[in-house]
Amino acid sequence: MIKGVIFDLDGVLVSTDELHYKAWKRLAEELGIDNFTREDNEKQRGVSRMESLEVVLNKSDKEYSQEEKVALADRKNGYYVEMLQKLDSSALLAGAVETLKMLREKGYKIAVGSASKNAPLIIEKTGLLPLIDEISCGLDITKSKPDPEVFLVAAKKLNLEPKECLVVEDAAAGVEAAKAGGMKSLGVGPYYKSLGADYASETLLDVNWETVLK
Ligand code: BG6
Ligand code: MG
Repeated sequence: MIKGVIFDLDGVLVSTDELHYKAWKRLAEELGIDNFTREDNEKQRGVSRMESLEVVLNKSDKEYSQEEKVALADRKNGYYVEMLQKLDSSALLAGAVETLKMLREKGYKIAVGSASKNAPLIIEKTGLLPLIDEISCGLDITKSKPDPEVFLVAAKKLNLEPKECLVVEDAAAGVEAAKAGGMKSLGVGPYYKSLGADYASETLLDVNWETVLK
């Protein structure tokens, strides 16, 4: 029986894709990579900051040391965090607030399970904090999706068994992580049909919650 819902953040509750893209694009251009595209940015969906950096560096002939890579990821994060300062509730995706309110009214526990180390800032800036019971994010984990760690930490924080949790995701790596953790999944977003989730809806507005939560 489902007792809690764990939401991925970027691409599920909040639209941050464009900001990530702009920050990576700026870094890529500084490195002389002028062919970093939105398509490349799609490969960064749901994966960690360091893995996202590899998507950028794959377009370069230059080799970078681990130390240099950490500095580059930090530089990109600086650009991203600068843009996040202006984030507000207008970045919330359609149906996010209504869905969280509806689930809470029905007695479900709510967590965010996100690879992002900026999740607490994003949640605060967009006003989601009062609608969420627990946050499990990039700061809580050592292994990123498709490893289930971020969702297992979320379930633990909610005091629920994995099988009592439903994960809502927009990335294939996240759906894989939910499965590896023994959780049911709902795929949303532009690739909802091909994520391999147990249930799929284009947006949070289209979800048949009665079926998904049964
Ligand atoms: C995920 C995004 O939610 O967080 C990825 O989909 C991103 O694109 C990852 O790389 C890590 O985010 P951050 O904010 O810690 O760099
Ligand atoms: Mg996501």
